[in-house]
Amino acid sequence: MSFYDEFSKYYNDIFPLDKNLADSLVMGQKIKNILDIGCATGEYAKYFSRQGYIVDAFDLSKQMIDISVQDNPHNVNFFVSNMITYKRKKSYDLIYCIGSTIAHINTKENLKKFIKNSYDNLREKGVIKIKSLDYMFLFNNGINRLEDLVSANQEVILKRNFEFSNTDVLFKTTLVTKEKTYNSITKLMLLSRRILEDVLLELNISNYSFGEDKRTIFLTITKNI
Ligand SMILES: C[S@@+](CC[C@H](N)C(=O)[O-])C[C@H]1O[C@@H](n2cnc3c(N)ncnc32)[C@H](O)[C@@H]1O
Repeated sequence: MSFYDEFSKYYNDIFPLDKNLADSLVMGQKIKNILDIGCATGEYAKYFSRQGYIVDAFDLSKQMIDISVQDNPHNVNFFVSNMITYKRKKSYDLIYCIGSTIAHINTKENLKKFIKNSYDNLREKGVIKIKSLDYMFLFNNGINRLEDLVSANQEVILKRNFEFSNTDVLFKTTLVTKEKTYNSITKLMLLSRRILEDVLLELNISNYSFGEDKRTIFLTITKNI
């Protein structure tokens, strides 16, 4: 069982929906169809479906998707899939991949595959938004742990540490719950703006921008045909 499978039932306690982030994903755009990549328990997808958007959302973890579908009054189309190999027959006005999900892609080639595939699934003038920690920034600044995340009722704690190599990050977590403590190590890509810029250049995609914050990558790609 993967870290996220184990983590799924505590996920919303530790990562509650950030409405400001959600609103920033749709702000200023004409949107009907949305794809959420790496949706975890689906809170963002449900937030958008409540507002009338048509939302598809997937995650690699079946446990996450099982939780997502339990309470789904506005019919988000949830399914299990892998962001490296996913295929959609329809196109979207907005595709987003937030919460450092993209760093789970293990190689630059797969990153390229992911961006190309997502770009191909955009409508004209559609937008991809990607939000992740900039792991290269953390590495360069000697940041090898982040603040503990504690649930509102104080009963669940997530401790987060990183071990860096030249290409990868070992994301070492300890999830403390009333029942049990889970230790886990997940291998992530040493993601940076530079890698993303390289990939965009290789794909001949030039209509993109990054947010200001150095610790976080907030990449917006707009499709112009
Ligand atoms: C840190 S969580 C972020 C979830 C959510 N986007 C958010 O911001 O709350 C990362 C999610 O990515 C999923 N994931 C990891 N690798 C994946 C892959 N190859 N394809 C799809 N989802 C993946 C995990 O199962 C997990 O739910």
